[in-house]
Amino acid sequence: MLEGKKIKIRPIEEEDIDTLYQWSNDEEINYWSSGAWPLNTLYTRDQIIDKYLENPSDTYRYAMLNENDLLIGTIGFKEVNIPCRSVTLFIVIGEKSYWGLGYGTDALITFVRFLFTQWNFHRVSLDTWDENLRAIRTYEKVGFKIEGRQREARFILGNYHDAVLMGVLRDEFLALHGKLQVAKSGRLE
Ligand SMILES: CC(C)(COP(=O)(O)OP(=O)(O)OC[C@H]1O[C@@H](n2cnc3c(N)ncnc32)[C@H](O)[C@@H]1OP(=O)(O)O)[C@@H](O)C(=O)NCCC(=O)NCCS
Repeated sequence: MLEGKKIKIRPIEEEDIDTLYQWSNDEEINYWSSGAWPLNTLYTRDQIIDKYLENPSDTYRYAMLNENDLLIGTIGFKEVNIPCRSVTLFIVIGEKSYWGLGYGTDALITFVRFLFTQWNFHRVSLDTWDENLRAIRTYEKVGFKIEGRQREARFILGNYHDAVLMGVLRDEFLALHGKLQVAKSGRLE
């Protein structure tokens, strides 16, 4: 278990599947996280189990909990590049009432610190799209910089949008936020 100021991060468990199934088929969540809506087919429960519990791909997913241990989102990484020690991060707060309350910033600081300190990555990348200003602002607060734009690389509800590419390096992140610590309780924070 990783602990931030507001959130906790733990492995995904079977009891999370119903909630993840709801979020995966939610219009607004899909719109902001990928711009993909409507989905050509809705996800089935088996696909969600496969994606989150069987983890067939090189993708690492974790559950994000609030102060009362309620599941509010997921966070994870993919595209591990071993020689470059780089990785691509993703985050979704599925409980919409938690948007804009600082949980995403706290989760990102906690999780990126974990990636740099515990996994020994050198660089964390991510991408979003130009209209997701809340996500861009959140990533900037954590220390990510805009490194480029792919012009009109996304097509969302009939309009082309730029993909926004962002990244943060280990040294600059640790200078801002410090390393992962083991608390007196024995927990990582
Ligand atoms: C993106 C996401 C992870 C951010 O987490 P969050 O908890 O909502 O964000 P925080 O509350 O920590 O910070 C939001 C920041 O964005 C700012 N913001 C919100 N809406 C904004 C807008 N339209 N324009 C500019 N800034 C905006 C807030 O003011 C805040 O910045 P501040 O602290 O300087 O005031 C979360 O909203 C989410 O999961 N959204 C749905 C899915 C998604 O977009 N995923 C990311 C895909 S790349």
